[in-house]
Amino acid sequence: MQDPRKELILLLDFGGQYTQLIARRVRECRVYCEIIPYYTPLERISSRKPCGIILSGGPSSVYEENAPALPLAVFEMGVPVLGICYGMQLMGHLLGGRVVRASHREYGRARIGITGSEGLFKGLAGKTWCWMSHGDRVEAVPPGFVVSASTDSAPIAAMEDNTRRLYAVQFHPEVVHTPEGRRMIENFLYGICGCGGTWTMGSFLAAAAAEVRETVGHGSAICALSGGVDSSVAAVLVYRAIGERLTCVFVNHGLLREGEPESVREAFRRLGIPIVYVDAKDRFLKKLAGVAEPEAKRRVIGAEFIRVFEEEARKQGNVEFLVQGTLYPDVVESGTATAARIKSHHNVGGLPADMPLRLVEPLRWLFKDEVRELGRELGLPEEIIWRQPFPGPGLAVRILGPVTEEKLNVLRRADAIVTGEIKQAGLDRRVWQYFAVLPDIRSVGVMGDARTYAHTVIVRAVESQDGMTADWARLPHDLLERMAARIVREVPGVNRVVYDITSKPPATIEWE
Ligand code: XMP
Repeated sequence: MQDPRKELILLLDFGGQYTQLIARRVRECRVYCEIIPYYTPLERISSRKPCGIILSGGPSSVYEENAPALPLAVFEMGVPVLGICYGMQLMGHLLGGRVVRASHREYGRARIGITGSEGLFKGLAGKTWCWMSHGDRVEAVPPGFVVSASTDSAPIAAMEDNTRRLYAVQFHPEVVHTPEGRRMIENFLYGICGCGGTWTMGSFLAAAAAEVRETVGHGSAICALSGGVDSSVAAVLVYRAIGERLTCVFVNHGLLREGEPESVREAFRRLGIPIVYVDAKDRFLKKLAGVAEPEAKRRVIGAEFIRVFEEEARKQGNVEFLVQGTLYPDVVESGTATAARIKSHHNVGGLPADMPLRLVEPLRWLFKDEVRELGRELGLPEEIIWRQPFPGPGLAVRILGPVTEEKLNVLRRADAIVTGEIKQAGLDRRVWQYFAVLPDIRSVGVMGDARTYAHTVIVRAVESQDGMTADWARLPHDLLERMAARIVREVPGVNRVVYDITSKPPATIEWE
């Protein structure tokens, strides 16, 4: 079967905030798209034989000293090019048009009149809306180009040279505020670049499994299952490729949520995939005894996790490969100097330091939504596919102060109520994360006629796109009330519930 990644769009990244979104939009049109730095050498670009090239937006001005640029030859390869925002200004500047520096940024929705009826705007002539976010703009198109769309403040909102198949838009077709954006991207991909749309998770699965078989050869591999969607999907995919030469190790560090170890074991039993289940609760609890400082907790858990995992790996004999569920955004963010944010990897279960294992990362080409789709393709249950992000150190970072078995039991019960109520209200796919936190405080209350002096539980629920920033979720008051009433009634040792209404920044999502 042909690798669906053969039909390729290369997206040259100039550091724009929407670069990953452009790639996702292209993939939603079932065309594989890879993000590469704008300074990638021309030979590398042409050796990939792309069907089309997209130039992303970016924060620079073409007139700045050392402004990111491109060799002119990119436009002479005979491959269609679409410039977006900075990509358009660069195209205009390099090909002999005139770009003017803006006195102010234009930001927001704009009414756009489309005059071009071929190429990018085929079937779209007339008025529509678009999303603008730019400083500089093109004031005179380069020779060979015609203006194909305009707004009041940007008379040249789009330009095209249908002969050389070069296209550019000042606005952002990739954002939802450009309602016809999807059609424009489809026109570029299917009409201009001639793509057929072969990128589906079914076709990826076959190609990825073949790649894993080739990499691992006759060797064997190991993976650490966390119960999250990434490690589970990676494990199932690799298992489909090499069968029992993969050992899946599931370490229960005793810091998981209610029912979690059972549901992971059950899911894999149903899939017919054996897992090595390690009950290491006591080991972790002992190591954590008396440890209160958050970073110290993380270190203790991380180190102990690696120790347990290594012991299991040794029992398997000759393991050469370690399977990890690394995703595409992590690959892009650690490999592109232009990307502004670098995600800190604070996962438990990193590469064991002194084991000579080679990495197998079958999801390194996928976005999260694609991983979920792949998970469905592989038959994983919904509760794993939609599991909310959960920190590797688990409940230990949601118990402030030293972790004890008693506190873990209180938190597990309270957390199950929070989670259950959110699901019951049908909000589980809309709220990014929702959970309970147990602070190291007690307060006075009254129950029946008696005074109580008991734990407080904090409810935390946030909306977010990627966990980097977050807003507290405006949960309905009656839902909050139900949670609070149930927690104090059903969880012994709790007499007060509070709701965290801080956003990130300045707070973080987790409390530790
Ligand atoms: P913070 O608390 O930094 O969390 O706002 C951002 C996102 O990362 C998750 N998180 C972790 N994930 N290992 C993980 O795999 C960790 O150690 C860890 N700590 C925080 C957190 O749940 C949120 O989604």
